[in-house]
Amino acid sequence: MKLNIAVLAGDGIGPEIMPQAINVLNAVARKFGHEFVYHEALCGAHAIDEVGDPFPEETYKVCMDADAVLFAAVGDPRFDNDPTLKVRPETGLLAMRKKLGLFANVRPVATFDCLLHKSPLKEELIKGADFVVIRELTGGMYFGEKYQDNDKAYDTDIYYRPEIERILKVGFEFAQKRNKHLTVVDKANVLASSRLWRQIAQEMESLYPDVNVDYMFIDNASMRVLTEPRFFDVIVTENTFGDILTDETSAITGSMGLQPSASLGEHTPLFEPVHGSWPQAAGKNIANPLAQILSAAMMLEHFGLNAEGAAIRKACDEALESNIRTPEIQVEGGKAYGTKEIGEWIVNHI
Ligand code: IPM
Ligand code: MN
Repeated sequence: MKLNIAVLAGDGIGPEIMPQAINVLNAVARKFGHEFVYHEALCGAHAIDEVGDPFPEETYKVCMDADAVLFAAVGDPRFDNDPTLKVRPETGLLAMRKKLGLFANVRPVATFDCLLHKSPLKEELIKGADFVVIRELTGGMYFGEKYQDNDKAYDTDIYYRPEIERILKVGFEFAQKRNKHLTVVDKANVLASSRLWRQIAQEMESLYPDVNVDYMFIDNASMRVLTEPRFFDVIVTENTFGDILTDETSAITGSMGLQPSASLGEHTPLFEPVHGSWPQAAGKNIANPLAQILSAAMMLEHFGLNAEGAAIRKACDEALESNIRTPEIQVEGGKAYGTKEIGEWIVNHI
């Protein structure tokens, strides 16, 4: 298969983890006889510095022309502590999601047996936890009308019926492919937008008679994902709740550096790690490349290249089992491997 892949390394650790994923993809291409062509483009703080726009038109074109986008992360502390700035790396990320129509963010939560003890949660509680959070990505407070002056500020949590229907459809269909259990997470006891979500989900239930649906308030769900993670199969929720919930669920996996994701929608699909740009680690060769490499596996699986995705997952599992790990998940007294060394090890085990 030939795939044209837009490569957006972005900021912080992005330029260090991205080459590892590319090397792994090249190893897969050699082994399985595929042709992956890469098209690098600017985004984030980098792009602001070079062309004054965190998601330049040129990058948008590269993404639209590609079969898939492999994205790392954007963000830079230079932009974080000045609330008056209008242009920041994150505005580029949101523009990218909106312009590419990436309304469904799929964030799988799974455990690695050899890392169970690395989670701050009890091993017996999380062993076997395996669920997917489907986060709505182009609506809600992130994109609703905003206002800010010295005395007043607001964000509008607005959702239109078609936006809710299409994301719930993704949730129902994921549940059908998995264990047929969908949890709709909302705050319907307080928020009107949540009540419309719940109403539409109830209307849609009859279209998916094989799916067992339950409804949970976000505050309760935030607790249940930590106290009873095996309860969940597929969670579907709105943008802000999904953002918060998926940082929380990284505690189940054991490290933010292990969570890949896929963003799907109207145009080119995009694959990215859940973690951010971790600027403090940039240039130090200490960032875990696995979330980026596993995002590449999700990308291949999206195109039906399941054996190829499985080969990447297996090599990642073997690296973890062989203690070829970055410092944050290394065993006590074990050697801390660098970003590059882990990438090379995985390439050699494809
Ligand atoms: C994420 C990130 C982004 C978000 C930030 C960087 C704008 O936290 O992808 O989860 O809030 O969506
Ligand atoms: Mn987030």
